[in-house]
Amino acid sequence: MRRVAISWQNGLITSIASATKSLHTTKDNHSCKIIMSPPLVSLDLPDIWSSNSNQYDSIPPQKFSNQQIATVIDGKSIAEDIRSSITSEVRRMKESIGKVPGLAVIVVGQRRDSLIYVRNKIKACEETGIKSMMTELPDECAEDEVLSALSNFNEDSSIHGILVQLPLPQHLDEGKILNALSLEKDVDGFHPLNMGNLAMRGREPLFIPCTPKGCIELLIRSGVEIIGKNAVVIGKSNIVGLPTSLLLQRHHATVSIVHALTKNPEQITREADIVITAAGVPNLVRGSWLKPGAVVLDVGTFPVDDPSSESGYRLMGDVYYEEAVELVSAITPVPGGVGPMTIAMLLSNTLDSAKRTYDFH
Ligand code: GUN
Repeated sequence: MRRVAISWQNGLITSIASATKSLHTTKDNHSCKIIMSPPLVSLDLPDIWSSNSNQYDSIPPQKFSNQQIATVIDGKSIAEDIRSSITSEVRRMKESIGKVPGLAVIVVGQRRDSLIYVRNKIKACEETGIKSMMTELPDECAEDEVLSALSNFNEDSSIHGILVQLPLPQHLDEGKILNALSLEKDVDGFHPLNMGNLAMRGREPLFIPCTPKGCIELLIRSGVEIIGKNAVVIGKSNIVGLPTSLLLQRHHATVSIVHALTKNPEQITREADIVITAAGVPNLVRGSWLKPGAVVLDVGTFPVDDPSSESGYRLMGDVYYEEAVELVSAITPVPGGVGPMTIAMLLSNTLDSAKRTYDFH
């Protein structure tokens, strides 16, 4: 049988004659032939924005007529409240049963952003009384070294959460490594079973990924209604875009996902009551992309050189803030918006995991 499949190449649709694939069952001699178009589950195209709005300083802000003063959602302060409750709970656990939660972090390589994130996570553990351990491996390390570090933490009963900082260097198989993580210690929620349970109605994941959980927490604590609202998630990464869209669906939003190959991202985003953007492209979301009165959460944290700052760089979000702030009803700043919430949710997931282990309520 000859079938025709569709493949996407550089945004063009080309028809190809697909090969057919036979699968045989081992149980009996009858071969069970399943016809599949090979590209059916995976059209492996790079998710890279070719936007000309990837400019840092040079675009003058456009003025919008229907001006409105936006509420700036103070993620830093909300995260501090949550961390303070976690500190009390960790103390109560220590006083009651003589145990504290433990988090292990594995970081491979020297990516500047990863090292900053990891340092902040370890510092946050120290400040809340959570025990932390870190394994740092060189860029060129073998997969077995990562798996061995992971296996040690899987076996360590004082560790209740394990985080493998992503992205990993290209030569490492991220899927294989995340699959090896103990489901009960997957505080990032990236194990396929946790992610699958998040996707399915009536199933409960053991952990919800930290950034999406932080975003929903920000919406709830800011009094933003989610049920029935049009939500647009920009970016479809495993870390943020995908789980955020799943979590918004669980909260009964009508969810659209806009990504690097979307034809009309501006038009679709302008329909949204809630925009959560995680593209990693500074100034991608201009005022013209936003419906007046929308609520905007900016997950982007792109480091750009800034000799005037102490660290030599500053973080830029996906949203052109000066334009958006005149249009929307609420917005998170970068930094000080979603970032601190991600860390607070990691601490919260680690505490929950330890409570589950010790049956401590
Ligand atoms: N890289 C960027 N964000 C995250 C995160 O939340 N968890 C992990 N493991 N890696 C990341």
